[in-house]
Amino acid sequence: MDTTILEKINSEIRVCRKCPLGDSCTNHVVGEGNSKADLLFVGEAPGKNEDLTGKPFCGKAGRVLDQLLKISGYKREDIYIANILKCRPPKNRNPKLEEIKLCTPYLVGQLEAIQPKIICCLGNFSVSFIMEKFGLSNKIQPIGKIHGKIFIPPKMRLLKIMPLYHPASVTYNPNMFSILKKDFQMLKNIPV
Ligand code: URA
Repeated sequence: MDTTILEKINSEIRVCRKCPLGDSCTNHVVGEGNSKADLLFVGEAPGKNEDLTGKPFCGKAGRVLDQLLKISGYKREDIYIANILKCRPPKNRNPKLEEIKLCTPYLVGQLEAIQPKIICCLGNFSVSFIMEKFGLSNKIQPIGKIHGKIFIPPKMRLLKIMPLYHPASVTYNPNMFSILKKDFQMLKNIPV
């Protein structure tokens, strides 16, 4: 963990204009939490509430995440929450490939500074980026097949990567909660 480097990266994010989202957003959402976290969540991109407050997962999906965190035994102050994109895409559309390319060096820097032992990927964009980044492209499958499983990157045997459904899925389909609940319960039993 390197707090100075993390602060430097986060300061750069706050003034980023690498893509047009830097101008259209209200706040850049740098990420939040414990800079020494063993467990780090990677979401997709800020939504409306996050854009207004500058804080990750503070809207509807955030309330679901908070419920799930309670089940996992982790507190918000123990973990770090980051996103693939640091700025809200208009009308919450999907991130574009170019935006992901330009923005993810910040996430990679955050990961290098924090050095978490477990990375939980929330939703497809996060799963794809993180699994590709850590040499697990050949293990990528539809989220329905790989959620709640642990993947160990071939070159970083001490790191664990867990794909999860995005908490926002519960807001569209309440039945998703029990699936997410089961996966978050597993976090209790993963040693860090
Ligand atoms: N959804 C995300 O993926 N990230 C946030 O910060 C909020 C909602």
